[in-house]
Amino acid sequence: MSKKNIDWGNLDFNYRKTDYRYVANYKDGKWDEGGLTTNDMISMNECACVLQYAQTCFEGLKAYTTQDGRTVTFRPDLNAERMYDTALRLEMPPFEKDRFIDAIEKVVKANEEWVPPYGSGATLYIRPFMFGINPVIGVKPAEDYMFRVFCTPVGPYFKGGAKPIVVKISDFDRAAPHGTGHIKAGLNYAMSLHPIMEAHRQGFAENMYLDPGTRSKVEETGGANILFVTKDGKLVTPKSDSILPSITRRSLCEVAEKYLGLEVEQREVYFDEVPDFAECGLCGTAAVISPVGKINDHGREICFPSGMDEMGPVTRQLYDTLTGIQMGRIDAPEGWIHEIK
Ligand code: PLP
Ligand code: COI
Repeated sequence: MSKKNIDWGNLDFNYRKTDYRYVANYKDGKWDEGGLTTNDMISMNECACVLQYAQTCFEGLKAYTTQDGRTVTFRPDLNAERMYDTALRLEMPPFEKDRFIDAIEKVVKANEEWVPPYGSGATLYIRPFMFGINPVIGVKPAEDYMFRVFCTPVGPYFKGGAKPIVVKISDFDRAAPHGTGHIKAGLNYAMSLHPIMEAHRQGFAENMYLDPGTRSKVEETGGANILFVTKDGKLVTPKSDSILPSITRRSLCEVAEKYLGLEVEQREVYFDEVPDFAECGLCGTAAVISPVGKINDHGREICFPSGMDEMGPVTRQLYDTLTGIQMGRIDAPEGWIHEIK
């Protein structure tokens, strides 16, 4: 398979138009048969529900070239399931899970020249999304929807790749108690745009959000779940009804237990106990595992013993094992690797 002539090793996390995308339309109470197109533009009415009331949701997953040259995706069934759940919460007609996987397969196959080569450090980011498209002026869900999947080759989400980052404790909330924090709705990200720009203006890579009810427990960041490692090598990860159920986090908990023999605790994590941890990292499809060297809480710095130069040793083992599984260097648990044929 020939590849596009791209400086794969120097890609950052930005959109780049690829050749094909998938489109399906929901009209008169059903999804049409859908298919690939080269047209990256969307035309819609000025009063489309997505434009007025933000009725939109999305997913994110990646395709990889394995060591032995196969093109694979990682647990797309879980993205299909999460998008299904998200759609129901937003009163959108869910896209059937097997059709979701078929759409991913079609888009990756059609854009195989854009799947970064093994060992390049880049991956193909896949973005399925869905939105209400017909005009709606009273507050109610749309009747017509569009589902699309595009892909774009990407490098690391945070500049510097695997270098530790500094995050700040946000004064804003990204989710409400009993709100939409647990689904992948576009509105959650709209809410986070001002806080992330404030954080960047102050020199921080991301925001760490505390629970919106009491502001005493750690939740997640704008685009990733959080992992901590205790001084005696346990993996601890916050449990909350208002964070996104990260597929990377769920996978890492299994990797930690089954591949690394670590004890794993998924529980409420009080912010007060954070200074006692040895390592901290952000995990997600885009973030993979990005180590956190420091947390800034209104000027007070919490510095992890792993420091600002390198990932901590347990974070490193988790990172190497997860990426080893994704790139085919390490045997995957049954059903985790979905080959594109
Ligand atoms: N949390 C948020 C808010 C996210 O946007 C993401 C990205 O998808 C994640 C967590 C990580 O989820 P996943 O590992 O499924 O990509
Ligand atoms: C992902 O990791 O897929 C996300 O959606 C996070 C986003 C901030 C890019």
